[in-house]
Amino acid sequence: MPFSYHPPTGRDCPICEQLLVTDDNQPIIHVQQGKSSSASDFPFHNWFYFVLGYTPMFPIYILQRENSVSTDLILDPFVGTGTTQICCKMQGIPSIGVDGNDFMAYSARIKLHWNINCTTIKAYYKEILVKIRNKYSHYRWQEIDNHKITHNLALFNYGETHEEDWLIYSQENRPKMLLRKYVSDKPFVRLHIIDRVIRDTVEPGPIKDLFDLALTSILLPTSNVRYGPGFGIIKAKDDVDVFKLFQAKIDRMLRDLESIDHKQRIVPTRVLLGDSRQLSTYFDDNSVSLIITSPPYPGDHEYTKHTRLELIFRGFATNLCEFRVIKKRLLRASTTNIYCEDNDGAKIQDLRSIQTITNLIQRRLDEDSATSGFEGLYTKLVREYFGGMYKVLAECWKVLRPGGKIAFLVSDSHAFKMVHIQTAVILREIGEKVGFVDPHIILWQMKTSSSHKYCLRENILIMTKPE
Ligand SMILES: C[S@@+](CC[C@H](N)C(=O)[O-])C[C@H]1O[C@@H](n2cnc3c(N)ncnc32)[C@H](O)[C@@H]1O
Repeated sequence: MPFSYHPPTGRDCPICEQLLVTDDNQPIIHVQQGKSSSASDFPFHNWFYFVLGYTPMFPIYILQRENSVSTDLILDPFVGTGTTQICCKMQGIPSIGVDGNDFMAYSARIKLHWNINCTTIKAYYKEILVKIRNKYSHYRWQEIDNHKITHNLALFNYGETHEEDWLIYSQENRPKMLLRKYVSDKPFVRLHIIDRVIRDTVEPGPIKDLFDLALTSILLPTSNVRYGPGFGIIKAKDDVDVFKLFQAKIDRMLRDLESIDHKQRIVPTRVLLGDSRQLSTYFDDNSVSLIITSPPYPGDHEYTKHTRLELIFRGFATNLCEFRVIKKRLLRASTTNIYCEDNDGAKIQDLRSIQTITNLIQRRLDEDSATSGFEGLYTKLVREYFGGMYKVLAECWKVLRPGGKIAFLVSDSHAFKMVHIQTAVILREIGEKVGFVDPHIILWQMKTSSSHKYCLRENILIMTKPE
């Protein structure tokens, strides 16, 4: 369908209306079914659940559609918490992944490390549980109730001064950015005790990583924060059964590890921290068979927000400068992640479809006399996003072998003054500019939106690098 806009009337969306009339394709995933197939319901995927992650049903569908086999190499350039790679590994197919967020890359790497001896894990687990119980039972929790927890105040009931515990359990150990309104004192101390017990008991390596991830994965239910749609604060929890959550997570991890066979355990996987606008600096040209991914889309999501607690807790970002280093590695998909020196937009300045969108956004901003700083960035953001995606597609083209394909899952957007952005349609145009051929757009699911009356399309864009 050619890309064109009718002048908008009020806040209705002519494109949604037009698609409703002209496009009678049925979604592959029915909305209800899509909801019930969240990654949190699947083994390994649920080790760490990411709110903006996608359902494993998507990579499973593509692997099947493309008849992928164990001699293939699959790449996910926006690996998030590893959904694509876990599906590949389950099916015996080697994979590589990249993510620009340190915590994402870290969690995907641990979720994919399956060649660990369960007997050894269980032995450490037993020891850790005994130590945690012991520490918990000696802790003077009532002091926290009485707000007596202060700088360097020891809260253990030991008869003699215990140098180490004085240092460990003081407020000094709370990372500066992990504010009390994010995690209350008691749950924080419970988390911190477990963290210290793991560190004191298990040697650095895959088993310690597994325990660390289990603990980090329960940070969100332990906290007063909600992720999605944005980063929000909920009613403060005075206390949480952190021990029970931790045990449940380790039990689940053990069950998953015991459920797979030796062949699955040793399927090669590699996850890198990096910027997918530079993929060819990490991987050889013509080496990848298939790229399966869900890139960010222009929906004004800031991708470090949904891992803020984890980035702080694991020490990947301890101050705003360190957050900014991570954010700069990411595609520009949010008005809180855009910088004066950004210039990816230059790559797509000749594309009429993007000019049409940015002109329309500007017109609506002018009509509304919108003056907020963030709104002023909308048109730049759209250009930077698609310019960044141009770079990603060009890099995908390099690393793909001739005949190789990309399968991108992307959602349409209404995030900027209700202007409809048909993400897959524009990416198809950019892909063709890069040299991809044989494009297909398949409707995956309709996503309900809380901000307007329309359901938005989540499409799969498939394109091939010519032989
Ligand atoms: C929609 S999420 C992918 C979710 C993933 N499919 C999953 O199920 O967890 C997009 C991911 O892209 C990452 N990202 C954004 N820009 C990036 C870039 N330039 N290079 C690498 N990763 C990037 C974000 O950190 C985020 O994890």
